[in-house]
Order: sequence, then C-alpha cells, then structure tokens
Amino acid sequence: MGIGWRIFGAPALKFVDSETAHKLSIKTLSKFGETNAGQMMLNSVYKSPELPVEAFGKLFHHPLGLAAGFDKGAEALLSWSAMGFSWCEYGGITRYPQDGNPKPRMFRANKHRALINKMGFNNPGASEVKKRLIDRKASDKWPKFPVAANIGRSKKVSNEHAAEDYSATLDILWDHADLFVLNVSSPNTPGLRELQSGDHLSSVLTSCNRIRERKGENKPFLLKLSPDSQDEDISTSITASMNLGIDGIVATNTTIKRPIPINTQSRKAFSNDGGLSGRPLQSRSLEVISKSYIETGGKIPIIGVGGIDSSESAWQAITSGATLLQLYSAMVFNGPSVVSSIVKGLKRKVREENFTSIKEAVGYKHI
Ligand SMILES: Cc1cc2nc3c(=O)[nH]c(=O)nc-3n(C[C@H](O)[C@H](O)[C@H](O)COP(=O)(O)O)c2cc1C
Repeated sequence: MGIGWRIFGAPALKFVDSETAHKLSIKTLSKFGETNAGQMMLNSVYKSPELPVEAFGKLFHHPLGLAAGFDKGAEALLSWSAMGFSWCEYGGITRYPQDGNPKPRMFRANKHRALINKMGFNNPGASEVKKRLIDRKASDKWPKFPVAANIGRSKKVSNEHAAEDYSATLDILWDHADLFVLNVSSPNTPGLRELQSGDHLSSVLTSCNRIRERKGENKPFLLKLSPDSQDEDISTSITASMNLGIDGIVATNTTIKRPIPINTQSRKAFSNDGGLSGRPLQSRSLEVISKSYIETGGKIPIIGVGGIDSSESAWQAITSGATLLQLYSAMVFNGPSVVSSIVKGLKRKVREENFTSIKEAVGYKHI
C-alpha cells in the first residue's frame, strides 16, 4: 500500500460508508487527477513497469486494467493511466439514465476482503456519457491507452427488447471506446442474466453485429460471464457467441453466492442481496477463466477478473488462460499501489519461469 494512501486515503475512507467513500475518490480524481500536475503526482507514486502484451490488435503496456463499475460515468479516465493501469473499462452504461437501486447498496466485509453491491446500473445514460466524452476529446483529455465501454440493459426495457437497447447504446458510444463489453451477467438487474443464453443471446449479438457492419469498423465485442452459471451453460454461451463473432470473454462478473461469515460485519454485509466481489470470488473466477480458455481453444482473448489482489492471484489467472486482467475490489482494500505491485510481481514471475514474454504464460496450466 502506498504511504500517501495509508496515511491519508484509507483512514479517511474508513469513516464514511462505502458508496460515499467511492464517490469522494471519483470526485477528487475527476478534478485533480485530470490535471497535468495531478497526473504527474499520481504517476510519480503509482507508475507501473512495462510488461507488454498484444490483444485485439492493440498493444497494452501490461495486462492489468480497471474493471467496470469503478468509473461508471467515465469521469476520471486520465487518472487510471496515471495510477498505473494499462487500460480501463468505463460503465456500465445503459441506453436510458438510471438512478439504480435505493441506498445503501454497497457493503464491505473487510475480513474477507469482499464487497457486496446492488448498485443496479446507476448511470447518466448513453447520450449524456457521449456528451462528456466528446467534451473530453475536445479538451485533449482522451487517455493514450485502450478504453473499453461496458454496456448493460436498461431496467425499464424487457429482455424481449434487450437487443435494441444494447445496440442503441453501442451506436451512441461507438466513437468513444476501443472495445465494447456486453454485460449480460450483472445480478442487480432482474432477468439480465437470462440474456447469457439461447435466443436472447443471439438476438443481442446479432443486433450489435448489425451496428458494427453499418459502422464499417471492426471494434471488438466481449461477452462478460457470470460465475454462477453452470459449466455446461458457460460452454453453450461461449460456443453460441463465438459462432456470432464475439472477440473476447470477460470472466467474471460478481456472484450471488456467499462464503460463511466470520464476524458481525461480514454477516451483515452478506445478508444483503447483490453481487459479491473480491477475494472469495477468486477460485470460481479462475475456474471460469480455465473453462473459457479450453472452450475457446485459446482462439480469442480471455479477460480475467474476480479477486485479483496480488501478483500470485494475477499469475494464476494468466496461467489459467487470461491474456488481460482487471480488478475492482483490490483498489478498495489495498489502494492504488496494488496495480504496480502486481505488475512488478508478474514481471518477476515471467523471468523466474524463463518465459520470454507474458503471452507465453497464458493458459500454461493447461499444457
Ligand atoms: C460496486 C461495483 C459495481 C460494479 N458495476 C459493474 C458494472 O456496471 N458492470 C459490470 O460488468 N461489472 C460491474 N462490477 C463487477 C466488476 O467489474 C468485477 O467483475 C467484479 O467486481 C469482480 O472483480 P473484483 O473481485 O476485482 O472486484 C461492479 C463491481 C462492483 C464492486
């Protein structure tokens, strides 16, 4: 943990509820972190080493990016690169603006290093985010690293009309992301996870493909999976989505499962509905990464996410089949210095295991 974070950030944030703490961080970063001075300062503390990896025809300085949900409204894009991430995913964005579920809707279980959230896609809506991103580009504040957009279904739209809802958001945000993650796996929008299979999945992908054809530009589409699906259902979703031209898999979203609580705080946190993220998710996330790698035959990149908070957990995700990685919860429990410490550890692992690049380690466990 960085000394600045340990002295000022973490203790201050302990006294406010999780969502308020998060809002404060984003607000500070969207002001201070977007200035040249702010970026220089963040970069001097959090800079990560180079561990280049190529995916989706793009060069990533190293594999680790910021997961969806942290910067829902794309407010602090420059800060994430200054904090050492090599890419970021903003959103989830829906076609229509949404308040999300009533508060409180984010809870910590510190001893488990886990979060429970039932945010419910609170976001300003695709058109407002587009406006912000146009302004950002006009003021020369577009980050110099790959940016993904996470797209969810609007709550007021039924699954029968989900295809138009996703493709409308995609259309609106098309010029404002390098990759698009189709989130059909959040547990906090009723019925959303049914979109992972069958006719629903094919109509969402077909409709998004139509937009891609119309735009005439081959931006990658990634499918984000739930850790709670049965293995057979994961295989079916992957096969169906590969047949429909999906370019990558994100494994995984949060889980509705809960570990056995070990104290009052975790008992309270775990009694809330919503998705669990952080350390207890790691083992299932690894299984889904492995499953996805085997199922895709290593033909398309897997993004590993879920409980990554150290170079060991990051290495396990890579050797299980992830080409790129993301984290969210570790930012809350470890602070931003977790990014450079993971990348440094990965670099060391590559050297120790005598690989010439990180790419060689992807899926190594299955050889
Ligand atoms: C408060 C919160 C909000 C999230 N919002 C989204 C979201 O909008 N879309 C999405 O695909 N995933 C969302 N996620 C899931 C994360 O992107 C990630 O898949 C999950 O937290 C597991 O990673 P972690 O263990 O590193 O936190 C959210 C997670 C949290 C904790």
